[in-house]
Amino acid sequence: MSRLVVISNRVAVPKARGAAGAQGGLAGALNSALKQNGGVWFGWSGQEVEAFTGAINVQRSDGVTTATIDLEPQDVDEYYNGYANSTLWPLFHYRIDLTQYEQEFGKGYERVNERFAESVLPLIEPEDTIWVHDYHLMPLGERLRARGIRNRIGFFLHIPWPPTRLFVSLPFHERLVRALLHYDLIGFQTEEWLESFIHYCRKELGAEVDEERCTVTLDGRRTLARAYPIGIDYDHFMAQGDTLTARNAFQRVDASTRNRTAMIGVDRLDYSKGLPERVEGIGRFFDTYPERTKDLVFIQIAPPSREDIRSYQQIRTVLEQKTGQINGARSDIDLVPIRYVNRGYSTAELFGFYRASKIGLVTPLRDGMNLVAKEYVAAQDPEDPGVLILSRFAGAALQMPDALLVNPYSPDDLAHNIRLALDMPLAERRERWERLIVNVREQNVLRWTEAILGDLEAIEPQPAAGSGS
Ligand code: G6P
Repeated sequence: MSRLVVISNRVAVPKARGAAGAQGGLAGALNSALKQNGGVWFGWSGQEVEAFTGAINVQRSDGVTTATIDLEPQDVDEYYNGYANSTLWPLFHYRIDLTQYEQEFGKGYERVNERFAESVLPLIEPEDTIWVHDYHLMPLGERLRARGIRNRIGFFLHIPWPPTRLFVSLPFHERLVRALLHYDLIGFQTEEWLESFIHYCRKELGAEVDEERCTVTLDGRRTLARAYPIGIDYDHFMAQGDTLTARNAFQRVDASTRNRTAMIGVDRLDYSKGLPERVEGIGRFFDTYPERTKDLVFIQIAPPSREDIRSYQQIRTVLEQKTGQINGARSDIDLVPIRYVNRGYSTAELFGFYRASKIGLVTPLRDGMNLVAKEYVAAQDPEDPGVLILSRFAGAALQMPDALLVNPYSPDDLAHNIRLALDMPLAERRERWERLIVNVREQNVLRWTEAILGDLEAIEPQPAAGSGS
């Protein structure tokens, strides 16, 4: 297999994995692919410099070479906080109410994609396979093509693709998709997001779609468009479970929740994760079944995220208020029903927390996939597994029908399912878990990378684009 050039906004050095990385779907997934094929992982360092220089910082750690550039403050404002996370992120999670359509953001996004293209260019060799990740870098393939790059280039979108009716609220939506179609392959997490994309290409661009071959052709250029549901790094995750750190973490939860059932949620502090709605559902559970208050301790781990953006600051305030209200009303001298923790933990610690929690609560309002759901299942004791409560609006729901699937907008549905989970007999828990674990184990991240890279390598290199876009 040819050398791999992975390009994403954030680059994770393997050793630094943990805290934030463990909760972000992207970071952990790519190390194995790079270790196997060799190559380089290119992206933003997360650092700012006064003026952009394009200087590349190369590091080698644990068999993976990373190359990063610093961005200037205006780039971070307009590209990362702006277009990526205040325009595309909310829109692609169906939140047009939170979407900001600032022209400056769009310009900053284009500028940074240009900067990425210009900077990564010298690192690309003629036979390399290039794999670009996520919504930050949708125009990058086109920018590389404009610089004469003819290599195979694949793109994977880690978040949902919105329905056409929402997507067309984006000014220049057509330009964005035309740019995307310069990739040889576009991967989505689920068939649902793929369908929305295909619908747009047909209806708005009049592109030719071959459903059998999964291709979209526009202006004489053909792109393979397919769903590739991402999985967890199963072996690595299970190995973390064997560590002293994981056992200590298990003890911490177990010893502090004695005679009560621990229920856990682990999410970046993001409005797409449905955290206030979740707490509302827990409040409804306590109101509906007051005699069960003493049976349950809810642990919500929520490391802060994208803190410069107002909608993220607001969600934090709302969540603190709601948690405070419930704890104020329901606490006793030896019982605080909700433990709300604003920090991240390592993968090993999370393994221990998941295993000690008999209910996993994963209730995003919209999510591309959600790997916490899969990690929760993987961490369970096969003899006495916990119950996963999963939002039907997470991509993972399509692969995990044996979870208790809920509507995260309905406090009653949440409350009802929490009670079902609390009272579920061991035999049913085992049956459900045995079916869930098959998917989590088999559809792992190695399979995912193999499927995408296999498809990408099989694509015949195409002539330069016919369009002048
Ligand atoms: C999601 C996105 C990733 C992103 C991660 C963490 O999983 O799909 O691209 O890296 O969130 O967000 P952040 O803004 O901290 O990189």
